[in-house]
Amino acid sequence: MNSEDQIKYKVADYPFEKCDFWHYLKIFYKDRGLKVLYQFLNRPHRRSFSRGLIKKFAPTGFGLEIGVGARTICPTDRTILSDAFSAHGVHDSIDKIFFKGSVIPYDDNSFSFVLSEHVLEHIANPLKTLEDCIRVLVPGGKLFLFLPHRDRTNDSHRQLTTLEHVIKDYKMNVAFDDDTHVEDWFKNVVKKGLMPIHYSHLSKRDLLKTRSIHQHVWTEKQVVEMLEYLNLKICYVSARVKDRRDSFVVIAEKRA
Ligand SMILES: C[S@@+](CC[C@H](N)C(=O)[O-])C[C@H]1O[C@@H](n2cnc3c(N)ncnc32)[C@H](O)[C@@H]1O
Ligand SMILES: [Zn+2]
Repeated sequence: MNSEDQIKYKVADYPFEKCDFWHYLKIFYKDRGLKVLYQFLNRPHRRSFSRGLIKKFAPTGFGLEIGVGARTICPTDRTILSDAFSAHGVHDSIDKIFFKGSVIPYDDNSFSFVLSEHVLEHIANPLKTLEDCIRVLVPGGKLFLFLPHRDRTNDSHRQLTTLEHVIKDYKMNVAFDDDTHVEDWFKNVVKKGLMPIHYSHLSKRDLLKTRSIHQHVWTEKQVVEMLEYLNLKICYVSARVKDRRDSFVVIAEKRA
């Protein structure tokens, strides 16, 4: 066959894949199998386990996230993203509205869910903040608390915070900028060489200004106790969060 007889194709006739990513997944599946494909889709950073909890326990209605920081697991088409500060560690916050969790500028019974991840431990008067979170929930609304587990964080040398302690903080009306726990944090975290890496560029003054240290230290047991003390019904407790390894989670419901 000489060159004049060669078949010619038209670029436009080529059946291009409609979705580049879909094509990539198909090859991935063919090469590596279903299990690896599942692992790829369920990579921890997608937080499908945590997002699934929100879908299950608060499938509809508007939500509020307190202390969103630089990331969220909330459905952003129905969640107000808030924070008390515009920066956290090395990242800018993605919040769209600013207020402290203890003075939420919304009416009672406004939200189907309130969520906060790794925030309550930074707050000097946690019961006061929880009280305001509960106030803005509708009856039957859910409170989601994802928190660092004492035994899997830089707090592993610190004492657990008891219910009695937070009740005392509440009764004494401990202020937002209370620094009672700073020395404990320096002694049992910083001096033990456990300073979180994303804080290490911050001065002590900046750490305190943005409330970046952990005031209180918990496992799921003390948090369940606190929420029961506040008359919430516990819906779900897990000492581990599959897609955030240092965390535990407690979900509770506001009674009618
Ligand atoms: C460790 S970061 C967690 C950020 C994000 N939720 C996450 O899981 O990555 C703590 C966040 O709590 C916020 N925060 C601290 N005290 C707060 C308060 N009293 N009210 C609301 N947010 C607060 C900080 O600004 C910061 O964004
Ligand atoms: Zn305290």
